[in-house]
Amino acid sequence: MTDKVLLTKVDNIGIVTLNSPPVNALSQEIRQGLLDAFSKAESDDSLKVIILMGADRTFSAGADIGEFGKSSLEPVLPMVCQTIESTSKPVIAAITGVALGGGFELAMASHYRIATNSTKVGLPEVHLGLIPGAGGTQRLPRIVGPKLSLEMITSGKPIKAKKALAEGLIDQVIEDTDSLKEEAIAFAHTLIKENQGPRRSSERKEHIEKQGNDKEIFINFKNSLQKTARGLYSPFKAVDAIKTAFTLPFDEGIKKERDIFLECMNSAQSKGLVHAFFSERKCTKFPEAMNENGPARDLSTLGVVGGGTMGSGITVAALDAGIKVTMIERDQESIEKGKHNVTKVYKRHIEKGRMTEEQVNKVLEKYKPSTDFDDLKDVDMVIEAVFEELEVKQEVFKTLDKIVKPGAVMASNTSYLNIDKIAAVTSRPEDVLGLHFFSPANIMKLLEIVIPTKVKADVVNTGLTLAKKMRKVPVRAGNCDGFIGNRILSKYGKVVAYMMEDGASPYEIDKAIFKFGLPMGIFQMFDLAGLDIGWANRKRQAATRDPRERYVHILDLLCEKGHYGQKTGRGFYIYQEGSRRGEEDPEVLTLIDEERKRKGITTRSFSEEEIMNRYIAAMVNESCNVLHEGMASRPSDIDITLLYGYGFPRYRGGPMKYADQVGLPKILDDIKKYYEEDSFFWNPSPLLVELVEKGQTFESLNK
Ligand code: 3HC
Ligand code: NAI
Repeated sequence: MTDKVLLTKVDNIGIVTLNSPPVNALSQEIRQGLLDAFSKAESDDSLKVIILMGADRTFSAGADIGEFGKSSLEPVLPMVCQTIESTSKPVIAAITGVALGGGFELAMASHYRIATNSTKVGLPEVHLGLIPGAGGTQRLPRIVGPKLSLEMITSGKPIKAKKALAEGLIDQVIEDTDSLKEEAIAFAHTLIKENQGPRRSSERKEHIEKQGNDKEIFINFKNSLQKTARGLYSPFKAVDAIKTAFTLPFDEGIKKERDIFLECMNSAQSKGLVHAFFSERKCTKFPEAMNENGPARDLSTLGVVGGGTMGSGITVAALDAGIKVTMIERDQESIEKGKHNVTKVYKRHIEKGRMTEEQVNKVLEKYKPSTDFDDLKDVDMVIEAVFEELEVKQEVFKTLDKIVKPGAVMASNTSYLNIDKIAAVTSRPEDVLGLHFFSPANIMKLLEIVIPTKVKADVVNTGLTLAKKMRKVPVRAGNCDGFIGNRILSKYGKVVAYMMEDGASPYEIDKAIFKFGLPMGIFQMFDLAGLDIGWANRKRQAATRDPRERYVHILDLLCEKGHYGQKTGRGFYIYQEGSRRGEEDPEVLTLIDEERKRKGITTRSFSEEEIMNRYIAAMVNESCNVLHEGMASRPSDIDITLLYGYGFPRYRGGPMKYADQVGLPKILDDIKKYYEEDSFFWNPSPLLVELVEKGQTFESLNK
C-alpha cells in the first residue's frame, strides 16, 4: 500500500489524504491508493462520512501528464471516480489550492464540495488537446447546466471558489485556509446530524430535464468556437461530449466521453500541447540556477533607459510586477513621450474597467520619469532600451558604469547587437547581460536571457528572478546575431522573400501561414513590426553580406517609398485610417512584378503545401545551426521561443516538435532538393544531417 494516499480517522469520520507533492498528480500509484483507501473506508462500519483532501497546499492538478503517451495503467481514473461516487457513505471533497482536470473530476464524483477562498477549480484538458476523461463532461453539466459547462470545458479556464459557490458547484467557501480540515469535519458532523446521505452528481436530473431537446445552444457554441478555437480539435469534440450528457444516460455518456478522450489523446495536437506544457517548465532550468554559488541578487528597483516602444513596455511590465521603476530619457520632450506611453496603458485599464483610478495611482507612485542618469545610482538593475545602434548603446553603458552602485545588474534589450561589445565598454562586464523582451513588452511572455562571455551566474539568476516576477517565460540564449528567435526569423523571413520574387504573392504566402495556424501571415507581421526595422538591419549587414547570398530588394523598395507598414498606413497591405486589418494592395503586386522583370525571373506558382514546406525547412535548418553552435540549450527551448515570441501554433508544439512529427528525413530531403537551386542559402545544417544519419529525433536532445 502506498504512503501517498492515507486513510486516517477523526471520531467517526474517515479522512483520505493525497500526499504526492508538488501537485498531487494522479499517477497509477495514487489511483490505486485511492481505490484501496475508499474500499477500506467503505467496509469500516465505524465510519459515517469520508473526507477527501490534499495533505498540503493543494488538492490535485489532475492526471499525471508524465504518464501520457504510455499505455494506460489500471486502475484508470474514471473507475476511481465511479468508486468514489458509488460509496454508500457521504463523501466530502475539501479543496484548497487547485482542483484541476482529473483532480476536479474527483471532487465532482464526491458528493459534497467545500473549498478555501483562494481555491481555483477547472477542467483545463483542452490546453493539452484533450477533453475531460473521468466523467467531467457528464457530471459538470448535471451540476451546473450546459452554459457554464461549455464555457469552462472548451476554454479550459478555471474559476474561483466564490464563483463556483454562486454556481452551485461547491457548497461552502472557507475563508481561512488553515482551518479547512476543521471545517470539513464540522461539515461532516452536520451531514451526520441531518442524516444526509450521498448526493451523486450522476443522478442529478434538474438541468437535464430543463434543457429537454433543445440542441441549439450546442450548435451556436460550436459556431462561436470557430473564432476562439481556430485550428483546435478538442474543444469541438468537448461540445459533442457535453451534448451527450443531455441525450444519453450517464453510463453511456461516460463511454462516449472515454472514446473521445482516447481519440484526442492519440492526436498530434495533444502530443504538441503536452510537449509545450513540459517545455515551458524545462526552459526555466538554467545551469546557472543549479549553481549554489550564484543565488540571485536583490531586485526591487529597476532603471529603464529609453521610454520608446520597448522602454515603456518594460516599465509597465515591471510596475505590474510591483517593482519600482526609474525611467531615463535623453531630454524633456522624450521623457514626456515616455510618460505618456506608460500612462496610456493604465488609462486604458481604467476605461475598460480593469483597474480603478486609485489602483492606477498606487501603481504609478512607483514610477519615476527623469532625464538625469544620476537618479539611477541606487537601482538594483538597469535595462537599456535606446536606439539599436552599437555606439549609442555603448555611450549609455559607459555612463551607467560611472553611476550605478556596485553589484547592480546592467542589461541591454538589443534585438541583434553583440552584448560582449556592449559589456566591454564597462569596468564590470561580469554584471552585464542581454534581456531581450518582445513587443509589446508588457504583454508578450517571452524573455530571451542572453549570456555574454563574462557574465556571472548570479547576474543570470537575477535575470531569471525578473522573469519570474514579471511572469515571463525565460529562454537561455547564446550571444549571436539575433540570438535565438530573431536569428531564425531572419532565415524564414528570407525564404518568404525568395518565394515572393519567384512567383508567390505575399498574400498567398500569408494565407498559407495563417491556415497553418499562426495568428497572422509573415508579411502582415512585418507590417505590424514596421518594415523600417528590417531595413535598418539589412543596411547594417550590407558591408559584411556574403556576395553569394541572394538579395531581394522588394522590401527595401517599399521602404524607399515610405511604406513602413501599419504605422504609415501602407506596407504590404493598405490600412484604412485607424484600422489594423490591411487590404491587399495592387500597387505592391505591380512593384513586385516590375522587380521580377528587372531581374529576368521566370515566375512560377507555389502551392500552399510548398510554401509551408519551404518556410518550415528554413526555420528548422537554422534552428539546427542555433543548437549546433550551442546558442540554445535544447530543441524544446527553440519551440518555446517560437511559440511565445513568433506565434507558432502551440498545438503543433513548436517547429522542433513539428519536425519530429513530420520526420527529419523528409525535412532534410526537402532541403537537399532546394539546395540544387541555391546552395548558399540551403546548406543543410550538420546537426540535421547527423540526426538523420543516426535515425534520431530532436526529442532525443531534450535533456
Ligand atoms: N501531471 C504531472 N506533473 C505536473 C502536473 C500534472 N498534472 N501538474 C504540474 N506538474 C508538475 C510540473 O511539471 C512541475 O514539475 P517540475 O517542478 O519538475 O518542473 C511541478 O508539477 C510544479 O508545477 P508548476 O511549475 O506548473 O507549478 P505552479 O505552481 O506554477 O502551477 C499548476 C501549478 C497550476 C497545477 C500547474 O502546474 C498546472 O496547470 N498543471 C496542469 C494542470 C492540468 O492541466 N491538469 C489536467 C491534466 S489532464 C487530466 O486531468 C485528464 C483527466 O481529465 C482524465
Ligand atoms: P524607440 O525608438 O521606440 O525608443 C528608443 C528610445 O530611446 C527613444 O525614446 C529615445 O529617445 C531613447 N534614447 C535614445 N538615445 C538615448 C539616450 N542616450 N539616453 C536615453 N534615452 C535615449 O525604439 P524601441 O523600438 O523601443 O527599441 C529600443 C531597443 O529595443 C532597440 O535596441 C531595439 O532593437 C530593441 N527591441 C525592439 C523591439 C521592437 O519590436 N520595437 C523588440 C525587441 C527589442
